[in-house]
Amino acid sequence: MSICKPTVESIRVAAKAIREGGVVVMPTETVYGLACDAMSESAVLSVFAIKGRPAENPLIVHLSSTEELERVVHSVPDIAFQLAERFWPGPFTMVLPKAAEVPDCTTAGLVTVAVRVPNHPVALALIRESGCPIAAPSANMFTRISPTRAEDVDGEIQGRVTMVLDGGPCDVGLESTVLDLSGAEPQILRPGSVTRADIEAVLGKPLGAGALSSVRKSPGLYRRHYAPRAKVVLVERLEVGQPGLTFLEPTGRSQIRMPLDSKAYAVNLYSVLKRLDELGFDEIGIELPPVSSEWEAIHDRLKKASAS
Ligand code: TXA
Ligand code: MG
Repeated sequence: MSICKPTVESIRVAAKAIREGGVVVMPTETVYGLACDAMSESAVLSVFAIKGRPAENPLIVHLSSTEELERVVHSVPDIAFQLAERFWPGPFTMVLPKAAEVPDCTTAGLVTVAVRVPNHPVALALIRESGCPIAAPSANMFTRISPTRAEDVDGEIQGRVTMVLDGGPCDVGLESTVLDLSGAEPQILRPGSVTRADIEAVLGKPLGAGALSSVRKSPGLYRRHYAPRAKVVLVERLEVGQPGLTFLEPTGRSQIRMPLDSKAYAVNLYSVLKRLDELGFDEIGIELPPVSSEWEAIHDRLKKASAS
C-alpha cells in the first residue's frame, strides 16, 4: 500500500479498485474517509471489518452531485433540495428515506440513508470516475480520532486498503453536520461546521432541541468517540484568550495554545491530539473553548473524547 498524490492516473486506479469491490482512503474537506462502492454488500462489509466498526452503525453515502440523490433516496422532500442547494457540496449530511437498491448493511438495517456531496475535488473526481455512490466512514479505527491528514491514517488501515489518496490537510477538520429529515421534524444528529443557525435560516423556523443525545436515532452517537489513547480531562479556561491544551512532559507541564477562532481550532484539533498521542502522553488537559453556536461541534467532540 502507498500514500499517493492524486493524479488523473492514481484516481483512475482508485476508481477501478472501488468498482471491483475494493477500499481506498479518500480526502474530503471534513476528514479522510474509508471509501467503497455503497451499493456493494461485500465491499461495505469489508469497510466495517477494516475499521472494527459495529454493524449497527450506518455509513454516509457520498455523491458527486444533487442529481444523483434519487439513486439512493426513495423520495426526496422539497426541503432536502433547498438544503442541498445551500450547503452542497459541503460538510452537511442529510438522513432521508432509503431507496431499495441500497444494501441493508450500508444503512445498518435502517429504512433511512445518510447522504452528502463532499466539497473536495479529489473526492468528487473519484466518485465520478468510479460511477457509483461511495460509502465512506471516517478513516479511523472505531472510536478513535478521525484523520485530517493522509499521514494520520492509522498504519493498520493503510495496510488494508488499495491506496491512500493524499489530498493534503482537510479544510474543515471535523466530521459533517448530520441532519435527520426522515421524521416529523428535522433534527440535528451530529453538530458540525454547518451550524444550527445556518440550517434554521434555510428551514425558516427553529430546529427542535435535544436530538443530540438520542442514540436510537443515530447509532453512531456513542458516548466515547473521537478519542485519543491518552485520557482527556476537560478543564475550565483559566484566562480569557486562546484556549490551551496541557500535557505532562518529563520536564514539567507544557501547553499548546489553540486558535481562538472556532474554524481554525477545528482544523487543528485532531492533528494536535494525534501528535500528542504519538508522543505517548498519558493525560491531556483541554481548556473548554467559548460557549457559542460556532463552537457547538467542538464542544460535542471534546465531550466525547473525554468520556470514559
Ligand atoms: O464528514 C463526514 O461525515 C465524514 C467524511 C468521510 O465524509 N464521514 C463520517 O462518517 O464522519 P462516519 O461513518 O464516521 O459517521 C457517520 C455518522 C454516524 O454518526 C452515523 O451513525 C450517522 O452518520 N448515520 C449514518 N447513517 C445514518 C442513518 N441512516 N440514520 C442516522 N444516522 C446515520
Ligand atoms: Mg467516524
